[in-house]
Amino acid sequence: MHLTNFASRILLVLVLIGQTLAFTDYLLKSCSQSGFCLRNRHYAREMQKARKQEAYSIDPTSIQTQDTDHSFQANILKRVPSQNGGEASGKTIVLPLFVDILDGGKVRFKINELRNSTLERGVDVINPKRYDEAYMWAFDKSANVSPADVDISTSYWPSRRDDIEIKSKDSEVSVRVHLTKFRIEIFYRGKLVLVVNDRMLLNVEHQRSLQENASQKLPEELTFNDFEDSFQYSKEDSLPFGPESVALDFTLIGINDVYGIPEHADSLRLKDTQNTEPYRLFNVDVFEYNLQAKTPMYGAIPLMIGAKPGFAAGVFWVNSADTWVDIEYDESETKTHWISEAGVIDVMIFLADNPLEVTSAYTEVTGRPQLPMISSIGYHQCRWNYNDEKDVLTVDSQMDKAGIPYDFIWLDLEYTDDKKFFTWKPDAFPNPERMLRKLWKLGRNLVTLIDPHLKINYNVSELVETSKSSVRNHDDSSYHGHCWPGESIWIDTLSSSARKVWRQLIDGFLMNYDNLHIWNDMNEPSIFSGPETTAPKDLLHGGGFEERSVHNLYGLTVHEATYEAMKESYSNKAKRPFLLTRSFFAGSQRTAATWTGDNVANWDYLHISVPMCLTNNIVGYPFIGADIAGFSGDPTPELLIRWYQAGVWYPFFRGHAHIDAERREPYLLQEPVRSIVRDIIRLRYSLLPTFYTAFHVSSINGTPIMNPLFYVHPELEGVYDIDDQFYLGQTGLLVKPVTEEGATEVSVFFPSGLFYEYESMKSFSIDKPRRITIDAPLEKLPLFIEGGTIIVRRDRYRRSSKLMANDPITLLVAPNKEGRASGKLYTDDGETFAFQTGEYIDISFDYEQGVLTSRINHKPSDGQLFASKIEKIIIAKGDAAQSSSYALLKKGSNEWMQSVEYSEESNFITIKNPHLNLQEMWSMILHG
Ligand code: NOJ
Repeated sequence: MHLTNFASRILLVLVLIGQTLAFTDYLLKSCSQSGFCLRNRHYAREMQKARKQEAYSIDPTSIQTQDTDHSFQANILKRVPSQNGGEASGKTIVLPLFVDILDGGKVRFKINELRNSTLERGVDVINPKRYDEAYMWAFDKSANVSPADVDISTSYWPSRRDDIEIKSKDSEVSVRVHLTKFRIEIFYRGKLVLVVNDRMLLNVEHQRSLQENASQKLPEELTFNDFEDSFQYSKEDSLPFGPESVALDFTLIGINDVYGIPEHADSLRLKDTQNTEPYRLFNVDVFEYNLQAKTPMYGAIPLMIGAKPGFAAGVFWVNSADTWVDIEYDESETKTHWISEAGVIDVMIFLADNPLEVTSAYTEVTGRPQLPMISSIGYHQCRWNYNDEKDVLTVDSQMDKAGIPYDFIWLDLEYTDDKKFFTWKPDAFPNPERMLRKLWKLGRNLVTLIDPHLKINYNVSELVETSKSSVRNHDDSSYHGHCWPGESIWIDTLSSSARKVWRQLIDGFLMNYDNLHIWNDMNEPSIFSGPETTAPKDLLHGGGFEERSVHNLYGLTVHEATYEAMKESYSNKAKRPFLLTRSFFAGSQRTAATWTGDNVANWDYLHISVPMCLTNNIVGYPFIGADIAGFSGDPTPELLIRWYQAGVWYPFFRGHAHIDAERREPYLLQEPVRSIVRDIIRLRYSLLPTFYTAFHVSSINGTPIMNPLFYVHPELEGVYDIDDQFYLGQTGLLVKPVTEEGATEVSVFFPSGLFYEYESMKSFSIDKPRRITIDAPLEKLPLFIEGGTIIVRRDRYRRSSKLMANDPITLLVAPNKEGRASGKLYTDDGETFAFQTGEYIDISFDYEQGVLTSRINHKPSDGQLFASKIEKIIIAKGDAAQSSSYALLKKGSNEWMQSVEYSEESNFITIKNPHLNLQEMWSMILHG
């Protein structure tokens, strides 16, 4: 027994070593190698020992509650005691604070620092202010973030109460700000739910010179790496402001499960970090990244969601600097500690009855996910690289020959002339326009890679250098580093003049071809010669702000600039651009899709792709997928099948492979693998109307497309740590991908109710929530419908989504125990922004005890656009379904009868060709 344990431990160690070897860990700092992280963790320990904080309090004379733009405004004073603990205090630093209650259960507060306008050690091109513009990039331009009407209790003075209370008019939210010991208590419906600075970990490392530094520290602080960086790869950092981190703690009362803060290759439920590294948010290039790790990755969204049955809260830390987050689960609460290297403390709190509403409120502020072109939610065929025009057109025709639908083919790095972006390799792609035209014949699209680094010494980089549009060194010269093309410069898309130059370049490149799209890769930015694989932190961007302060949002500025340029360049001005970005920040969901970067063709990476995608989905960024079937390496046929079975549910569905991997386009696969993969891709295409409707719902209220169980059934205690199965949008489709080698069955958790196995439509009833073992031979994907749902499909095979646009519809009705079901269909032209001016159709279907009705909620002026017929209505025979012999159909004053066919095992009935059209109101009554 002991031996077995020992052996399994050794095995575990070997597995872990195997994983840590995947990515060169030592390139990235640990918390103890990062000055500001170590200092703040130390401060936290000291404060917890001391259990009191005397340094930070609100100056009561500074409080303003009327005639201001905010619900509450005041100064926090930071008092640094004199060195020898003498009578007179040393120095007082003024930290302006505002607190707002916003409509819809939101609270925002900000803590800034009044700073001198000069820098003793600095150069005058550096902006001396703390960076307070992250919200401008993260928030949607049209978001309403002005404070709601509030009631304020002003009895703190003269009765000397130590707090002030701000209450929303509807009394849903109230906020109590404590003065002498700075602390904010947040109440939802009268209950205390969240405490800010509960553990007194507020720390604002204020502006000071090297000479003043030691004398301006609080007794609980360390001076480690205040004015230097001793980490092997970032020693050159000039740290012009010295220490300037901001940190704060939040306690979520009554919460034991927190989620979010991507990007990490980790479980959906975040782990306790008391004995490990904190989670780090710092956009970096992590080829073959580590799994089950808190190390940073390509993107950062600083939103954490805590949830339990009946309540959920979100903490959005609006800061784009290098950030670490500690999590401590306590029995009745979750304690979190947020530490950022620079910038201001800008926080938005969301309070709601369930997590779905938190995600929705967050996207009300940061923008709803885009509604992408319908073709872009079809299948994407990518590889590093398709070598030339012939190669591209061969893949294109071979897919058709094998009967495999697809919509996008991709050109990676090597299509360029010598890795110079905005050029084509002349011999390989002599006539890109001809190639684009050929692809367009079947409605297909091409994506080309354009990275933000530009090889030096060619017309494009020269234009960027001469117009001073590149990222600068701190002496204002243009920064040069190394990436794919060798020595390169980086476009500074934080600067508005640089964005104009970028627009000009994209415009020239797109050549008016509306089926040409863009992939912004390496935009963390990835810099092979840079510290931690990225940009030196003392580089400068537009506005004179350091890379240190804006690092995590640089990638967003690149893809937003690209998106805006694409929109303006298309000849059809109403065309929706498709754009993929590797790096992202809060707000990226408005304009680009993303993916989980450089994974590996093995089972662990397949497994982790599900929680990674779920995490992005719940933080408002659902258009995500992982490279199928693993970027590096060659998948076994079994892994490849299982990966397509899982990947067909990723909102972004793309096959991609490394330049050294063997070719694995689906038509090249041996039978029976090829047919199995073909049928999986066809399943995605048949469900495109359902997927598109889910994308539409998400674009309206920000909710996920892949939903973890606790998003659909937050009332169930047992689902809060399930991250290997999920629902597609609000459609009732429940998926459990197989992610284990050799598995022929899986354990699926079912909430109570009536369920159907998707293919056979065989029903089974679950009395109380429980796990069931389900057969899952290799060709089978465990897929179920929760009773109560109507699914919309298009069942005819076509070569691309464009060719399906007018195909007939199949309705699949899966009633619940009460014999009821409902569903929705949203559709539009799938390509342009015309839907914004009402050119769409929105239909509800309802079924109750044998009666199915369609209701048109919205129809465009030209209904002919959506004249699809309904060719089949399938009704599952759940417990309450009828045994009918014919159906009576009604449309206006017309009535007619249609026969009913029974399936072989009598699991469902079918009404074929019911003579109905999508854009009409009708009803159907089953008769015995
Ligand atoms: C890195 C990306 O993550 C990968 O997908 C791409 O193939 C290579 N860059 C080459 O461009």
